[in-house]
Amino acid sequence: MSRAENTRRRLVVGNWKMYGSRAFNAELLSAIQARWQGVHQAEVAVCPPFAYLQQAAELLAKSNIVLGAQSLSEYEEGAFTGEVSARMLADWQCRYVIVGHNERRRLQGETDQRVAKKFIAARDADLIPVLCVGESEQDRDSGKALDTIGRQLSTVIDAAGLESFRRAVVAYEPVWAVGTGKTATPEQAQEVHSFIRAQLGALGQSTRVLYGGSVKPDNAEQLFAKADIDGALLGGASLKAEDFIAICQAAD
Ligand code: PGA
Repeated sequence: MSRAENTRRRLVVGNWKMYGSRAFNAELLSAIQARWQGVHQAEVAVCPPFAYLQQAAELLAKSNIVLGAQSLSEYEEGAFTGEVSARMLADWQCRYVIVGHNERRRLQGETDQRVAKKFIAARDADLIPVLCVGESEQDRDSGKALDTIGRQLSTVIDAAGLESFRRAVVAYEPVWAVGTGKTATPEQAQEVHSFIRAQLGALGQSTRVLYGGSVKPDNAEQLFAKADIDGALLGGASLKAEDFIAICQAAD
């Protein structure tokens, strides 16, 4: 299927991680908005830290840039100190939420099962989950990359049902490429993206699959040229207005 025939609108998501301040965010968002006016083919989302969602929602109110969050609780509500629920994110005008980012899997002990519960919580609150999957360097070196990605994905498919992917995004983020300056080659990424689509069966051709891991203005275009890459999940590049917009333009 050619890109013109499918329904996969290009998407660029900026994951700010634990960076920013009120002053920094205001400057960054105003620089981005100034350069992303009018109607575009690609959709652009930013995911600030929870503490700044309200500020970002206000600053983005009249723009065509949408809001996302970096994580969420798997629970609806309750005595979960420090957690933020899906309903709260929806209340903050979030459209997207990143689920299962490798930093949360590795540093916060999020298992495949917990990631699946978070995915379901996001879906049930009408948020669009951006489900991150990706192999470690060791997995890749030992030829187990697709096994790991297949397991991460099938845990969510088994728990949430394939139908849930009608309104979900998958992000392929090789752990060895995130924040390291090492990007997967477009061919490596394409191979995994096509594998992910195959895992999604009938929905494989309509679900957006993003690539993430050291995407920069100088490698974005080659990545986006691949048939199965529908956009990018950006860390570092999302904190620099010039780089962020250059990548959004490459996707557009
Ligand atoms: P990076 O991060 O672009 O800085 O590699 C990507 C991510 O963490 O989603």
